[in-house]
Amino acid sequence: MSAIIKDAARETLPEKRELSSAGRAELDALLPRYPTKRAALLPALRIAEKQFGCVDHGAMRAVAEALELTPAYVQAVFTFYTHFRRPTDGKYVVEVCRTLPCALRGADTFAGYVSRKLGIRPGETTKDGKFSLKDAECMAACDIAPVCQVNALYHGNLTPELFDKLLESLP
Ligand code: FES
Repeated sequence: MSAIIKDAARETLPEKRELSSAGRAELDALLPRYPTKRAALLPALRIAEKQFGCVDHGAMRAVAEALELTPAYVQAVFTFYTHFRRPTDGKYVVEVCRTLPCALRGADTFAGYVSRKLGIRPGETTKDGKFSLKDAECMAACDIAPVCQVNALYHGNLTPELFDKLLESLP
């Protein structure tokens, strides 16, 4: 797991996408809960992420169209959040919390171990596309610091040994 794939080089997904009828129906059901269409942008991006497997430019355009926003506005909001899957993300996205409570419980040392183990730095993806590594802010699980998230699951009280076991358990 040594070489690195740059984000721009792997952005090969199509530009044009459309929300499916199921995605559209899910969004339509959500909209009455929000004062404006714009306010539903984050859940709309989640719907697109679920449908397309990630949020790429085509997904952002589809959401912009559905909510009558400009693609630039959607992109500006999207890029603020690290939680959405990017088209360049690996099969497993490993996010290591770097906020103070985790830092006080050894997150910096742990993050260094994870980086060496995967052979990549935060923001990078392994050449085989299996792992992406990201720094993360507090995940509201400080009681089990240090914490990392692998895709949708949190893992706490981590040590290098436990991280090795976690990697071995991944299919
Ligand atoms: Fe890491 Fe809260 S500081 S989970």
